[in-house]
Amino acid sequence: MDFSFTEEQLMLQDVARRIAQEKIAPSAEHHDRTGEFPLANIQLLGENGLMGIEVPAEYGGAGMDPIAYVLAMVEVAAGDAAHSTIMSVNNSLFCNGILTHGSEAQKQKYVRAIAEGTAIGAFALTEPQSGSDATAMRCRAVKQADGTYVINGKKSWITSGPVAKYIVLFAMSEPDKGARGITAFMIDTDNAGFGRGKTEPKLGIRASATCEIEFNDYVAQAEDVLGQEGEGFKIAMGVLDAGRIGIASQAIGIARAAYEATLEYVKDRKAFGAAIGTFQMTQAKIADMKCKLDAALLLTLRAAWVKGQGKRFSNEAAIAKLTASEAAMWITHQAVQIHGGMGYSKEMPLERYFRDAKITEIYEGTSEIQRLVIARNETGLR
Ligand code: CAA
Repeated sequence: MDFSFTEEQLMLQDVARRIAQEKIAPSAEHHDRTGEFPLANIQLLGENGLMGIEVPAEYGGAGMDPIAYVLAMVEVAAGDAAHSTIMSVNNSLFCNGILTHGSEAQKQKYVRAIAEGTAIGAFALTEPQSGSDATAMRCRAVKQADGTYVINGKKSWITSGPVAKYIVLFAMSEPDKGARGITAFMIDTDNAGFGRGKTEPKLGIRASATCEIEFNDYVAQAEDVLGQEGEGFKIAMGVLDAGRIGIASQAIGIARAAYEATLEYVKDRKAFGAAIGTFQMTQAKIADMKCKLDAALLLTLRAAWVKGQGKRFSNEAAIAKLTASEAAMWITHQAVQIHGGMGYSKEMPLERYFRDAKITEIYEGTSEIQRLVIARNETGLR
């Protein structure tokens, strides 16, 4: 077993770290306060290959492996979580699914635009009444005699929905077939029949724009189907496996930023005549924070490694996401506590890390869904 990274992986990590520290972190407070979408920074990440890390160069990407993706995501998330949400959806949920299931024309058209940072992608699975139970979707795609599909319905909680040019949409094409009746479509948001609904005001990751989208007699051509008709649910689940590695990495980045700020603080802050880092109750928290952070990172790298081997990695990704998101929530909670009043104040980023961490336990499969996936894999029972 080799724990070292390749030169290419370290180079990409370095590029991500520099952009995160020089451009993203300094504007994170502004983006959190205003909710303004960080378009210039997202384009900069795209120009540096960070929107299509695993996308081969022939489709405009960086041509790197899943380990490099983890390293870069951690750096960007440590700079600002909202930026890393947009990056994760572009990389894992958008490019990844088209690379795995798309036609050559779809790869050239959709993957290239997102990987090069000239457009933003989104992934539309969730609906107002169906989140964890994804097969309960109501959005319908009705096949016409000429081979086109007419799509009607609503999707909610669409990350980057307000700004996305292209969307991977999941709609029920044969309702009586359940999970096997779902089809994936490539959507161009400039086409007739596509509309945007209300934008979600959120607790954290406030600069990653999130909204409802609507389809009113939107016509999808036969060549807009991603993969095969009826394969949509499996495509969504496979894509979410990759997405969960991205969210685990995001959680690690948020947690690391909170941990590093705390390490500085406990050396500087004095109470009862000594640095608070000399108190055993603080030391226990520091040790536990570090253990959880390292465990989360190692499990996430393991999931990325299995993915890179071309093997099924659903269980490893669920274990990584569950561990990392719960670690991020716990670590940011402790970081706020150690900082006391300063942790609660908007003068420092600790309260933002705490708010941003929460979403990692919810999206791309809640912690409860990760436990369900892990237990099903471990027991073989359903
Ligand atoms: N890879 C490939 N295929 C898979 C799979 C995977 N990871 N998981 C399941 N499948 C296949 C199964 O093998 C099965 O195939 P067959 O019909 O051939 O047997 C089929 O899919 C149905 O599987 P299940 O019976 O296991 O499905 P289920 O209804 O019990 O659901 C679930 C399983 C794990 C609960 C799933 O619904 C799930 O993961 N739910 C959570 C959804 C989710 O993560 N939503 C996030 C929204 S997107 C988001 O947050 C994005 C954002 O904007 C940031």
